[in-house]
Amino acid sequence: MSLLADRPDPAAEIAVPLPDPAHRLRRTRRTDALRSFVRETRIHPRQLVAPLFVFPGRGLREPVGSMPGVERVTPDEAEKDVRSLAALGVGGVILFGLPAEKDAIGTGGWVADGIVQETLRRLRDADPDLVLIADTCLCEYTDHGHCGALLKDGRVDNDATLELLARTAVTQAEAGADIVAPSAMMDGQVGAIRHGLAAAGLHDAAILAYAAKTASAFYGPFRDAAGSAPSFGDRRGYQMDPANGREAMREMANDLAEGADMLLVKPAMPSLDILAAARASFDVPIGAYQVSGEYAAIEAAARNGWLDRRRALTESATSILRAGAGFVITYAAADLAAWAREAW
Ligand code: PBG
Repeated sequence: MSLLADRPDPAAEIAVPLPDPAHRLRRTRRTDALRSFVRETRIHPRQLVAPLFVFPGRGLREPVGSMPGVERVTPDEAEKDVRSLAALGVGGVILFGLPAEKDAIGTGGWVADGIVQETLRRLRDADPDLVLIADTCLCEYTDHGHCGALLKDGRVDNDATLELLARTAVTQAEAGADIVAPSAMMDGQVGAIRHGLAAAGLHDAAILAYAAKTASAFYGPFRDAAGSAPSFGDRRGYQMDPANGREAMREMANDLAEGADMLLVKPAMPSLDILAAARASFDVPIGAYQVSGEYAAIEAAARNGWLDRRRALTESATSILRAGAGFVITYAAADLAAWAREAW
């Protein structure tokens, strides 16, 4: 006789049927150790790139009002920052310049002794263990704030700008940039830069094409930091319409055909679909730029106590990596790197 014969059948007392055990997903969410064990996406400090805004002078740091925690720095201070970023294991820095003077053709951007070139030489000589990236554009250097030379009617002259961008990339690579990152959104800019670099014998400089870059409202704080807001009009004549995902794929395919080594999607959180589609279509390194407005929005909400800064920044960077980015340019690079190391 069964030992259980006089006991009630436990199943008979349960009103609803148990779900199929195969559908029980909470088992792997029970403890920190289990959650970490099954985690699909982790932030590694080497996947992070910190933007640096450099201006001429010595020993100076200026806070950027719209981006708490971000400062414009002189080249010697940039060197200090880069040493501490390297110590945190951060993968790279991307340099933006604020020249002493601006003019109609952005001369400060492409001369050999420009502020970015000077800083690059200094950083290269310091030999930090991270990648040096130079943003290749003219908007920080033109007095009108557009990303290239202008035609008489005020539109940006695409083809005249190509030569200036190629010169910018050549002087940046000569000064020590491992990667040049054209962000002007001129048609043919990657090809022009690739030819310019080859003609100068600079075969080792890689091109990170800001290929899918939309005319985004989220660049506002950057323009405050870099003093690069257009003095008239806007950038919609050359940056992409945020509504167009298929066009983003054509931009990226063109840039690869012209010789880009890697692709950048920007802004990041508003473009996660484009990032995922790019990851599925192209077998090159792909990064995303979590831009100034994305960072400022999180900082502002955190300052008001409306969200948890560390969790929001970590979640946003993790989501960008999960969507397909191999690296993320972010103003929170130092904090994220420090937190990632703690999490080990
Ligand atoms: C230069 C450039 C911009 C950004 C990166 N490179 C400004 C712009 O296109 O207006 C924006 C980065 C940010 O918002 O953090 N063209």
